[in-house]
Amino acid sequence: MQLFHTLRELRAFLANQPHQRLGLVPTMGNLHAGHCHLVTLAKTHADLVVVSIFVNPLQFGANEDFGSYPRTLVADCEKLQAVGADVVFAPAVTEMYADFDGQHLHQQVVVQPPALANDLCGASRPGHFAGVATVVTKLFHMVKPQVAVFGRKDYQQWMVVRAMVRQLNFDIEIVAGETMREPSGLAMSSRNGYLTPAEKTQATQLYQQLGRIKAALLSGRRDYSILCDEAHLWLTQQGWQVDYVEIRCQHTLSLPDAQSHDWVILIAAKLGNTRLIDNCEVSL
Ligand code: PAJ
Repeated sequence: MQLFHTLRELRAFLANQPHQRLGLVPTMGNLHAGHCHLVTLAKTHADLVVVSIFVNPLQFGANEDFGSYPRTLVADCEKLQAVGADVVFAPAVTEMYADFDGQHLHQQVVVQPPALANDLCGASRPGHFAGVATVVTKLFHMVKPQVAVFGRKDYQQWMVVRAMVRQLNFDIEIVAGETMREPSGLAMSSRNGYLTPAEKTQATQLYQQLGRIKAALLSGRRDYSILCDEAHLWLTQQGWQVDYVEIRCQHTLSLPDAQSHDWVILIAAKLGNTRLIDNCEVSL
């Protein structure tokens, strides 16, 4: 496995490495089994797989955890080697952002994501999905993959990337990987590392509420807002600061009606200072 920090080295290597189909798995590092699953999936769609590791300042809000986001490159590379990644691309901020002066990003050209990016996580994290869309565009231009793999764990992000690829004519297939979970049901996340042991136990409540709403939908309930309010109230009583509990139509993220039969239940909530998200697709 090769590790490159500069685009020049990456391009030189790829130019001399025979391959049919190049795959990209974009990440921010601090890798866990969810990321590794995406790499394994990428290897079934491509014969050369690049994993990018870059904590993207453009997608973090001013009061978010950009500074404290865990940076664990050595451990990440060991995990990626074990799952058979071919290349790790871990650029510095200056490599990704030509107009970074060491303090501030002067990135004026940004990708404006579709309207669905203003909803759900985008409503409480203004500019977040523009930051994601911009860095994913940069990575697509830099790596030039034929296929890129994203996780369903970040469901709205996956939809934003899909819309961007379609509307900006990127010739890249977007493949989605399942959400990997702890045995408790807790969705794996780099941010789980912020949780105390007690919070980590409590964090399974998100998954439990997804399961409760799923069972209710499958049993025929269509009172969506009451179902969401019940979960919202219950989680609040358990000490969560709930951002949203929503039942939406799969893929479009539009509001479902009584005839809908493909839903995605999405939750975002904070436990202490840690913001967690999870979701679950339900189909009849
Ligand atoms: P990051 O949070 O590191 O996630 C990288 C990829 O791993 C994303 O596609 C995410 O959906 C996926 N992922 C995270 N947890 C997962 C889990 N438990 N199971 C399966 N897949 C999981 O998402 C980002 O980074 C960034 O926004 C990025 C796309 C790299 C742009 O900066």
